[in-house]
Amino acid sequence: MKRIAVLTSGGDAPGMNAAVRAVVERSLHHGIEVVGAYYGFKGLYEGDFRPLDVATCSHALRRGGTFLYSARFPEFKEPEIQEKAIEQMKAHGIDALVVVGGDGSFTGALKLTQKGFPAIGIPGTIDNDIAGTEYTIGFDTAVNVALDAIDKITDTASSHNRTFIVEVMGRHAGDMASWIGVAAGADAIVIPEEAYDLKAIAETIAANRRAGKDHSLIVLAEGVMTAAQFRKEYEAVSGDDVRDVTLSHIQRGGNPTVRDRVFASLMGAKAVDLLLEGQAGIFLGLKNEQLATFDIVETLTKEKHQVRRDLYELNQGLSAK
Ligand code: ADP
Ligand code: F6P
Repeated sequence: MKRIAVLTSGGDAPGMNAAVRAVVERSLHHGIEVVGAYYGFKGLYEGDFRPLDVATCSHALRRGGTFLYSARFPEFKEPEIQEKAIEQMKAHGIDALVVVGGDGSFTGALKLTQKGFPAIGIPGTIDNDIAGTEYTIGFDTAVNVALDAIDKITDTASSHNRTFIVEVMGRHAGDMASWIGVAAGADAIVIPEEAYDLKAIAETIAANRRAGKDHSLIVLAEGVMTAAQFRKEYEAVSGDDVRDVTLSHIQRGGNPTVRDRVFASLMGAKAVDLLLEGQAGIFLGLKNEQLATFDIVETLTKEKHQVRRDLYELNQGLSAK
């Protein structure tokens, strides 16, 4: 193993840079060269490889976003494009690839694995929606950023005794909404994995108001519908005058939290160690809070990500009177 490539792909996530930095530092420690494929799989296909070293990574650990840039490159679904990317890597003397990204990016890594090119995945997405692993890099920062915004919304909500619907990201998964909802003390969490009942939500909110709560909060996962649509439905049933807020891409910004930096560092270093041991076709993640490896093909083709139902139930148990 003389030279490896690393890329970031899909939606950027705080802590991606920390993972790249760990891949670079660990590789240098072992005398391996590292190049960054800029703009995700697009850069791989176009051969946009640039050397990475201590200088290029100096501020990586603490910065959000991705300094390797990212791109949505749907063309990578085509086998000829994947083959061209492998040719590019071989032509540039690249022996293995580390992919930092979400489930879409992992499918890209899976395709390269199935074509025989050694690849290792590091989960980097704010959505926490990858099969197998209980954690993805960026999730912790994103939920904390959202919580900070909701704390601010709560100041004005309580001043006017208002109900707010706050739409959070998460694509098709309800993980962000569940964690944020519990942490913010939401009256209701609405996620794609669970059916919702507008009348029951309105009754919960009314009961909490009678019990003395001076504001109300519904945390809505974007995978259900938009906050504006939900507001219309909810106002029709409850008769309340509510406000809706969509936090949107604010949730993808900010310096990564300690948790995201630490796990990104652990995973980046481990990815290099595994490649040196001759392992590939796997991705890293967390199981019971410990670093774990998952077979890319087995996990992505056979398992589905599961939201933590206990958090949803906990919130119902706390909010419903
Ligand atoms: P994320 O990785 O955050 O889930 P996307 O779903 O946009 O984000 O995927 C990121 C990139 O991964 C895509 O732009 C594409 O280049 C690649 N990708 C996604 N799905 C596939 C697929 N089925 N086969 C090959 N590559 C894919
Ligand atoms: O996957 C991360 C994510 O932020 C999702 O939560 C969201 O649905 C999507 O990306 C937004 O994508 P874009 O940045 O392309 O609008």
